[in-house]
Amino acid sequence: MRTRRIPGTDEALPVVGLGAPLPFVELPPEGRDLPKALIQTMVDMGGRLIDTPAFFRPDVPVIGELLTEMGLQQELFLTGKITVNGKEEGIAHLEKTVANLNKRPMDLLMVHNMREMDLHWPTLKEWQAAGRVRYIGVSLARTTDYSQLEGFMKAERPDFIMVRYSIHHPHSGERILPLAEDSGIAVIGVEAFKTNDDGGFFGLVAGKQLPQWAAEFDCESWAQFSLKYMLSNPALTCVVTETSKVKHVVDNMRAGYGRLPDMATRQRMREHVLSL
Ligand SMILES: NC(=O)c1ccc[n+]([C@@H]2O[C@H](COP(=O)([O-])OP(=O)(O)OC[C@H]3O[C@@H](n4cnc5c(N)ncnc54)[C@H](OP(=O)(O)O)[C@@H]3O)[C@@H](O)[C@H]2O)c1
Repeated sequence: MRTRRIPGTDEALPVVGLGAPLPFVELPPEGRDLPKALIQTMVDMGGRLIDTPAFFRPDVPVIGELLTEMGLQQELFLTGKITVNGKEEGIAHLEKTVANLNKRPMDLLMVHNMREMDLHWPTLKEWQAAGRVRYIGVSLARTTDYSQLEGFMKAERPDFIMVRYSIHHPHSGERILPLAEDSGIAVIGVEAFKTNDDGGFFGLVAGKQLPQWAAEFDCESWAQFSLKYMLSNPALTCVVTETSKVKHVVDNMRAGYGRLPDMATRQRMREHVLSL
């Protein structure tokens, strides 16, 4: 799979990773085979990053147990996020995340949706200084107001940001992604398949043929159409997608192979999708 370097380091990440589908949080009735197959398929296809579940629920997700059984902790690049309010609660949350994932140091810890930054960002800086995490950053999705993130990036230069960026939501591409590129900040793109419509991207393209010219950038599916649009922005280090189907992991990982669209083609892709 294509890789991109984390700015300022010699470490490269494969450009497509996995998000946190429900089977990583709650075992499906069929048991562990499905979530393990999702992870193994990503690994077999050259993926390495898992954006682990956000621990919204009081119960600890099963992802850590699965990774331990599969012996993959060291091989994978694992992220975690503070998804709770309160300084002490945030620290307890990180401890729980690390204990569950059993990865020391953690690869990347973020403040989810930039909540209570005055409390949580100093915690992440302390953890990084103490060697408990290699990279730190913030996530911000489901917004079109990037002013807080922009100010934060300029003031603190985090190692990573995680932002929404897609054909339907290219707003972060206006100022945030160029700023990340100029400042040496790695970017994880999310929400590849969200639109403003409840049916989402796949509702929009259902029953529609891929344009023939998609073959010019080795695109075989609508999922890859969206992911290759994202990845053709060089500011993105990688993208993560969420799926509970092995065939969709295969589909999405394949977006990390082959050619990417050029600038003119990107424009054509956006016009095409918006015309559907
Ligand atoms: N603020 C934050 O920190 C934040 C916010 C949003 C997302 N994220 C991260 O990003 C990850 C991805 O979330 P997202 O919102 O960006 O979701 P997404 O990947 O854009 O969309 C997931 C949806 O697309 C479907 N799908 C995935 N691949 C497909 C394929 N090849 N063909 C057809 N359908 C496909 C999935 O259904 P199936 O299960 O049926 O495949 C699921 O319904 C999350 O798990 C999380 O790790 C973080």
